[in-house]
Amino acid sequence: MKYRNLGTTSEKLSALGLGCMGMSFAYGPTDDKESLATLEKALDLGINFWDTADMYANGANEALISKVLVPNRNKVFIATKFGFRFTDGIAGPSSATGTYFDGSPAWMKVAVEQSLKRLRIDTIDLYYAHRVDPNIPIEETVGAMADLVREGKVRYLGLSEASVASLRKAHAEHPIAALQSEYSLLTRDVENGILQTTRELGISLVPYSPLARGLVTNTLDVNILAEDDFRRTLPRYQQENITGNNRLIAEFAALAGTKGCTPAQLALAWVLAQGEDIIPIPGTKKRKYLEDNVGAIEVELTGDDLTAVDELIRRYPITGERYSEGAMKMVNH
Ligand SMILES: NC(=O)c1ccc[n+]([C@@H]2O[C@H](COP(=O)([O-])OP(=O)(O)OC[C@H]3O[C@@H](n4cnc5c(N)ncnc54)[C@H](OP(=O)(O)O)[C@@H]3O)[C@@H](O)[C@H]2O)c1
Repeated sequence: MKYRNLGTTSEKLSALGLGCMGMSFAYGPTDDKESLATLEKALDLGINFWDTADMYANGANEALISKVLVPNRNKVFIATKFGFRFTDGIAGPSSATGTYFDGSPAWMKVAVEQSLKRLRIDTIDLYYAHRVDPNIPIEETVGAMADLVREGKVRYLGLSEASVASLRKAHAEHPIAALQSEYSLLTRDVENGILQTTRELGISLVPYSPLARGLVTNTLDVNILAEDDFRRTLPRYQQENITGNNRLIAEFAALAGTKGCTPAQLALAWVLAQGEDIIPIPGTKKRKYLEDNVGAIEVELTGDDLTAVDELIRRYPITGERYSEGAMKMVNH
């Protein structure tokens, strides 16, 4: 494993983290036994940066992870998030009816206690606001998060899908160590000012969905997704877009073949090659995928390789937004 620094700190995080969401939420049937084995495998592979959130299956993901986290507390840098709430108490995706965002200090104080309890730890290493609440000044949210640092409940602060303006205001209130936003070769929104800003401020970018939620792996068949699979709500995975998008994916897989690696490895190597300040968190609930993904660390991409990927994306542009209209309204505040 290779390691990268968190922001300007001396914390060494594995260059590839582990996204744990799918172990409990969003991507079809779960298998706790295999998920726990995957977490153990992550420890063996030196993957020390694990990502969860209180909303993933309404806390069940944090509780699941705690089973491997607690006995290995000093080996894992754990990140979790707060802010999404459910009117009916049932966890749904960010755009579902009944899901809303609450970045208020009052809710954060409740949420952090619940996360600590479910994770069964005293301190969260990295605590993110899962979105920026457009109804609350970001300084208020981050000011309250900074209190948690002073109280020893949290070590570092992060934001997710924040705008340039919010990043600047937040960072002036208290140092922000990481911005977690969607970034992959199919979702490049952060290249439009965000990445320049995180670099200027010394904030790590933690790309989520670096495999485009499985699309770039050339193994995803949208026709057989479970009824409640979150990707069924996302435009880019709909039938009207998927035929065209699959053409891009097939070409991408062929390109990976010429490099002697899998499409997942090429996609992750591409994200890793965007800068040392970038620490992607590919998600999986399976050991075999985790092992595949770790292989990306050894894939060296030349300037010509990066150009070849760019050309492919220009030739077969991705169609369909990354989120539904409702969920898009919640990003970039
Ligand atoms: N801040 C936010 O708003 C936000 C939003 C979304 C996600 N996240 C975080 O980011 C993490 C990663 O994102 P993500 O899970 O959405 O998307 P992702 O990492 O782009 O893709 C995950 C999907 O790819 C599949 N996969 C993984 N490795 C594979 C491989 N080598 N070959 C074939 N398929 C493979 C997984 O299958 P299996 O599930 O079958 O293993 C899963 O369906 C999440 O776990 C979560 O912690 C944050």
